[in-house]
Amino acid sequence: MLIKNIACLVNVREENTLLRGKALSGLPCIKDACLIVEAGKIKGYGKMRELPALTAHHSPLTVIDANGAYILPCWCDSHTHLVFAASREAEFIDKIKGLSYTGIAAKGGGILNSAEELGRMSESALFDAALQRLHEVMKLGTGAIEIKSGYGLSVEAELKMLRVIQRLKALDLIPVKATFLGAHAYPLEYKNDHAGYIRLIIDEMLPNIARENLADFIDVFCEQGFFSAEETKRICEAGIRYGLQPKLHVNQLSSIGGIEAAIELNALSADHLETMNETEINMLAGSNIIATLLPTAAYFLRMRYPPARKLIDAGAIVALASDYNPGSSPSGNMNTVVSMACIQMRMLPEEAIHAATIHGAYAMQVQEEAGSITAGKKANLIFTRPMPSLAYLPYSFGNNLIDKVMINGKFV
Ligand code: NIG
Ligand code: FE
Repeated sequence: MLIKNIACLVNVREENTLLRGKALSGLPCIKDACLIVEAGKIKGYGKMRELPALTAHHSPLTVIDANGAYILPCWCDSHTHLVFAASREAEFIDKIKGLSYTGIAAKGGGILNSAEELGRMSESALFDAALQRLHEVMKLGTGAIEIKSGYGLSVEAELKMLRVIQRLKALDLIPVKATFLGAHAYPLEYKNDHAGYIRLIIDEMLPNIARENLADFIDVFCEQGFFSAEETKRICEAGIRYGLQPKLHVNQLSSIGGIEAAIELNALSADHLETMNETEINMLAGSNIIATLLPTAAYFLRMRYPPARKLIDAGAIVALASDYNPGSSPSGNMNTVVSMACIQMRMLPEEAIHAATIHGAYAMQVQEEAGSITAGKKANLIFTRPMPSLAYLPYSFGNNLIDKVMINGKFV
C-alpha cells in the first residue's frame, strides 16, 4: 500500500532512542512525504519526489491519498486501568462539594468502591465493557496500551481482571501489556492486617499469576494511607522473582520514599509525580526510570500538575499517559493528555508528542513494534485533518483533529 501526499510524516526514526533534555524537542519529521505499508507494517518512507525510486521494485500498489494530512505514529498509552466495572460519578459530585480523594477513600469509596462492583461482575461482562473502551480509545488514536489489575483485591477477582486483559491481548488488535496491581488498596477485611494482605499477594496471587502467565509488570500504589515504601519494596521484590519489572504509582499525593524505592527496585517507570521535591527530581533524572506523567488525573482531581519542565530540564526521561480509570481520569483520550501537557505543564508540542509515542512505548516495552515511524514497526498511524502546523494539534484542545486511524495497515 502506498500512502501519498502526506503534509508531514511525524516522528520518523531509523532507530529507537530515549531522549533527555534538549533532545526531547527535536522531533524528526518529513514534509511532503509518502509511506509504504506492507503486511500491516511500515515498509518505507520518503519525500514525494522520491516516490518513483521508492516504488520502483514494487508490484502495483493500492494507493491512498492522504490529501495533506499529518501522519503520526499512534499514541502509546502506558498507564491505564481500562478494565473496570462501573463509573463513579457520585464521587465526582462529592468532590465538587468539597470532599477530597483521600476523604472518599477513607469512607470506603474510591478504589474499594470499584473493587466491590468488580467482584459482582462476571468475567464476560467485564470483558465486553473493556473491549468497547479499547475500541473507543483506538478511534482516538491509541495504538498500544498498558492495562492494570487492581480493582480485584482478592485472589479470585485479581485473576479475573488479568484474564480479561489476557483476552484483550489475545485479540491482537493493538499491543496490550498487563500489569498486576494487587497492591492498589487494602481491602476492608485486611484494614488492620496489612501483613496478611501482603502475604496473600506474595503467596497466593503472584504464584497463580505466574502459572497462567497473566502479567508483564507489577505495580504498587505507594502512598500515604495505601502502601508504604517498605511494603512497596517487599511486594515488588516478590514480583521481580517472577520476572515482573515494577511500574509504580508514586508521589501522587505525598512523598514517602517512593522514588528511592523505584530506584532501588530498578523500576521501568515511576508514574504520577504530582508531589516532587528538588532532590527527588534530580534522583529520578539521574536514573533510567521513565517518569510517566498523567495530566488528566491531576486535572480531574484538581491537583497541582507534575513538574514536567523541571524533570525534562534536569534530564529525566518523560512519558505521558492517560491513567484511564473511573476514579481519577475517566477519559482515555490521549489527544487531551497531549494538549494538557502543553497547556498546563509547559511541554513543547514536540516534547509532548515524543512523550506520548516513543517514550510511552518504552514505558511498556513495545518500542520494537510501536511509537515511531520506523521500518518494521506496525502501521499504527494517526491521520489528522488538514492542519496549518504540528503545534495546531495540541493547540486546538478539545477539537477532534483525528480524521482516521490505521491499525495494522487497516483503517478502524
Ligand atoms: O492512578 N492512584 C491510584 N490509582 C488510580 C486511581 C484509582 C481509582 O481512584 O480508582 C490512579 O489515579
Ligand atoms: Fe493509575
